[in-house]
Amino acid sequence: MIKKSILVTGGTGYIGSHTVVELQQKGFDVVIVDNLSNSYREVINAIEKITNIRPEFYEFDLCDFEKTHSFFKKNKIDAIIHFAAFKAVGESVEKPFMYYHNNLFSLINLIKCANEFNVKNFVFSSSCTVYGQPDELPVTEKAPVKKALSPYGNTKQISEEIISETVKTTSLKSISLRYFNPIGAHESSLIGELPIGIPNNLVPFITQTAIGKREILNVFGNEYNTPDGTCIRDYIHVVDLAKAHVIAVERLLSNKNKSNYEIFNLGTGDGHSVLEIIKTFEKVSGVKLNFKFVERRPGDIEKVWASTEYANKELGWKAEINLEEMLLSAWKWEKAINKI
Ligand code: NAD
Ligand code: UD1
Repeated sequence: MIKKSILVTGGTGYIGSHTVVELQQKGFDVVIVDNLSNSYREVINAIEKITNIRPEFYEFDLCDFEKTHSFFKKNKIDAIIHFAAFKAVGESVEKPFMYYHNNLFSLINLIKCANEFNVKNFVFSSSCTVYGQPDELPVTEKAPVKKALSPYGNTKQISEEIISETVKTTSLKSISLRYFNPIGAHESSLIGELPIGIPNNLVPFITQTAIGKREILNVFGNEYNTPDGTCIRDYIHVVDLAKAHVIAVERLLSNKNKSNYEIFNLGTGDGHSVLEIIKTFEKVSGVKLNFKFVERRPGDIEKVWASTEYANKELGWKAEINLEEMLLSAWKWEKAINKI
């Protein structure tokens, strides 16, 4: 049987690299496009070490239409998983144009080429940020999309709109996956998240504090309306997330999708507070974490966790890795990159 060829944009990035591994292990041919604006070429070697298969790699910016077009001319692609985007919320507030430009032009160029070269299957990386603070928890896919709190969040909302409008008038079929909070790393500790500079996200900040790179973890707010006063999120292991992408691609390729545009939440369905994360991390790592409570972070949502019912039922997918394993894998990865 001829192998299906999957274009993974942003495939050297955090979630992309884990997805490439899962795709290869399921027998797909993978082609990566990444401009290395937030990742490293060495990730290709790491992927090859895990799977014994070297993914094809093209380095260019998807905002460059000519290069994107000539890529599609040369490569026969059956489906696209589009991860490539800028993702730092704070930076998007400082440099909104850069975010709109990168996240929207890359998407538009890809869709244009998909239409021209008859690529019908498109999986898109969206985010639970589109729900803002939901009125009801757990939040379902039917919950209203609220006004974005950042240009980054807005690029995800606009992208979803572009896709949902496009599928009405073209032969494109698409699935948007709304991720909750991806954490952790591959069990091999060969790939994981490599935050550049000071991490914005909780778990990389915790592991960097534990290893001594950061002096103290600031916990943003302890008077929220939650059992222990700290914010609640739905943390999901990156490999569970990656597996859902393989299922989404298979669903599109085999025409099992129920409509031309589907949306799924990807979370565990469980909410955990910042203090729970700290306690669980201390338990699995054996390291006492230095932390203090500080002011709330502007724009933070009090609590959010996913309804996973729809993804469980329709995709036959369920997150399997528990919180202790997630945090242990993040800790092993931190030690691996520091050669400890
Ligand atoms: P990442 O930064 O690790 O990976 C993104 C990759 O895309 C990087 O390797 C970067 O070099 C590449 N890239 C960016 N712009 C590009 C362009 N114009 N052309 C070619 N390559 C480009 O991020 P990630 O955490 O793996 O996130 C992947 C996707 O998931 C993003 O779309 C992000 O917005 C979305 N997402 C991430 C999270 C999260 O917490 N990590 C949560 C929700 C949604
Ligand atoms: C953030 C983004 C979200 C994005 C996601 C993944 C904001 C407002 N939201 O989500 O759009 O999709 O990252 O990149 O930035 N915390 C601390 N101290 C820290 C860091 C975080 O207490 O040093 C707390 C936060 O207040 C929050 C929780 O930890 O309650 C998780 O934070 P984070 O990892 O940044 O994720 P989100 O804010 O959920």
